[in-house]
Amino acid sequence: MTGSRRSGAFVDKVGIIGPMNEKNCGAVVTGSARGIGAATARLLAARGYGVCINYVADETAATAAVQQIVAAGGRAFPVRADVSDPDQARRLVEETADRFGGIRVVVNNAGVSQHRAFAEMSPQDWDFVVRVNLSSAAYVSMAAVRYLLEQPFGRIVNICSLRAMTGSGHGAHYAAGKSGLIGLTKSLALELAPDITVNAVSPGYTNTDMNAASLASKGDAIRASIPVHRVAEPDEIALIVGFLVSESAGYITGETINVNGGVYMR
Ligand SMILES: NC(=O)c1ccc[n+]([C@@H]2O[C@H](COP(=O)([O-])OP(=O)(O)OC[C@H]3O[C@@H](n4cnc5c(N)ncnc54)[C@H](OP(=O)(O)O)[C@@H]3O)[C@@H](O)[C@H]2O)c1
Repeated sequence: MTGSRRSGAFVDKVGIIGPMNEKNCGAVVTGSARGIGAATARLLAARGYGVCINYVADETAATAAVQQIVAAGGRAFPVRADVSDPDQARRLVEETADRFGGIRVVVNNAGVSQHRAFAEMSPQDWDFVVRVNLSSAAYVSMAAVRYLLEQPFGRIVNICSLRAMTGSGHGAHYAAGKSGLIGLTKSLALELAPDITVNAVSPGYTNTDMNAASLASKGDAIRASIPVHRVAEPDEIALIVGFLVSESAGYITGETINVNGGVYMR
């Protein structure tokens, strides 16, 4: 921690994870109306963060996610913003910072999957999937860095995928975008140390809308292929994000944590 303007405060507080340290600040969670992003936003709001509920199309889900957090005593507001567009990504960050008086946490979660054989893939398919899964994380992080640097500590977590590790037989653009997130994670970890940690969480099969069709048609085969014999719940992924953004996780940076029930181990 030599050279950090925050090292003393950090050392004093090692071991403390909780609202005492995390109140009254903002957290940007992209793609947070549904699935893993919504679970992460709920967890951060329960810890005292003000969170944006970011979506691109499903306003009903965003409204419900905000209402759930507010009903539990948290702070949240909806922001429609396509984070694969740099201007909209910046607006999301700025609105969240203005609303909550700063940003300490960024979770780059927005993602899309698209089943597409490479032989049938168009350049437009490629660009769309890589922009949403990879470029959006860069755009949001670029806009957020100056806010994170104003805080006692800053945290960026990128939501990666098992497919970054294994490749994909039906989505080269998705696997490539998620692999790129690991390079972005390591590079930003180097550049933004010691004040901001940057890590990735790499989920396996998780029970969200993204997987609903495959779980409905071949759920038994999928579960049988997973050593723990079940898919993850979104809250289980959110818990790992919650640890990485805590003050106690300040010595972990540049890391990717696999949360996949044993499908892939390294
Ligand atoms: N589910 C899995 O098994 C699994 C496994 C590995 C990795 N992941 C990754 O985990 C992350 C979350 O996945 P999920 O399963 O929770 O997805 P999901 O249930 O499909 O929800 C995706 C969320 O992202 C939002 N979104 C999509 N494109 C966006 C954009 N361009 N700008 C802003 N928001 C956008 C959606 O908004 P709308 O509601 O408006 O559509 C929605 O709120 C993704 O990065 C995904 O790749 C998921």
